[in-house]
Amino acid sequence: MAMRYNAIMKGLILAGGYGKRLRPLTYSIPKQLVPIANRPIISYVVDQIRSAGISEIGVIISPHTGTQIKEVLKNESDLQFTFILQREPLGLAHAVMIARDYLGDEPFLMYLGDNLIGEPISQLIRDFDPKKEDGLILLKEVDDPRMFGVAITDERGEVVGLVEKPEEPPSKLALVGVYLFNTQIHSAIDRLKPSSRGEFEITDAITTLIKQGRKIRSKILSGWWLDTGKKDDLLAANRIILSRYHQHRIEGKVDTKTRVEGEVTIDSGTRIIASHLRGPLVIGKGCEIASSHIGPYTAIGNSCRIINSNIVESVIMEGARVESIPSLSHSIIGRKARVVKGEGEGMQLLIGDDASILL
Ligand code: G1P
Repeated sequence: MAMRYNAIMKGLILAGGYGKRLRPLTYSIPKQLVPIANRPIISYVVDQIRSAGISEIGVIISPHTGTQIKEVLKNESDLQFTFILQREPLGLAHAVMIARDYLGDEPFLMYLGDNLIGEPISQLIRDFDPKKEDGLILLKEVDDPRMFGVAITDERGEVVGLVEKPEEPPSKLALVGVYLFNTQIHSAIDRLKPSSRGEFEITDAITTLIKQGRKIRSKILSGWWLDTGKKDDLLAANRIILSRYHQHRIEGKVDTKTRVEGEVTIDSGTRIIASHLRGPLVIGKGCEIASSHIGPYTAIGNSCRIINSNIVESVIMEGARVESIPSLSHSIIGRKARVVKGEGEGMQLLIGDDASILL
């Protein structure tokens, strides 16, 4: 197939939704802003879109995610964002419906703002020929595809069927949250009815196109993919991003009693005293860390205080405190949370809604 640079000029990032599976973190921040290796998930999505040569990006926001998403994307000043408010989470196809005016009569890339994939999408975008095909979707073989859209493809990779979150999946091919469409998708969406869960499903719109004899091609993703919908996915994403893309950079102050092994990032204003740091590890700005063992595969956000504790494979978010905790692993500690072992007897807990403690 000949190379066609920039057949696609516009991207659409979906950053609405409630992020229910990531509660309690998502009571205060949208799931697209949960940090992976100290960067919000949506920043990795934006990196992908930018490196595919797309600079005009529509962003679907919800009333409760909008302000924070806008604030984070302010830092990406080389790109032109248009924010589109989705008042209720009525589904992915509904998001495209409300972006209709923005998208105009051009092919576009749709990217779910909580999906992380480990290979560039630029080739996928170059391969898409909106004059000859109506959609191109990305698939990944997974062991249990029941919580995803699931595709059936023919021997040429054309999609012959698609079903959303089936109890009995017809294949192991899960639909990754990256889609390319030409304008045919809009007429299919116009005729959609809500699904049994009350949403306008993009999988139903694609099925309509297939039934009309339209061409939807698929490509199998060979690298990793993480739909960061749950705690373990988030920790896995943190682990992968830290191990693949991390670099050694020390801007904070590290005293002579501290041992640093492997790739470690320490941002400015952070002080490390008499500790053992094992990379891959990233520590944000303005933290205080003393008499602790930290890492590997750990991300500590800005302004955290960690004293006399051991932390492995965890995400500690901005402003959190961990004190006198001998072993913390595979944990996510939310912003400004405190995990402190005091002098008194027994445990004293103040736990918010949907929190989980596994001892
Ligand atoms: C959505 C889509 C699903 C897709 C998944 C990828 O599901 O409906 O088809 O496989 O994203 O992340 P959600 O994660 O919104 O439940």
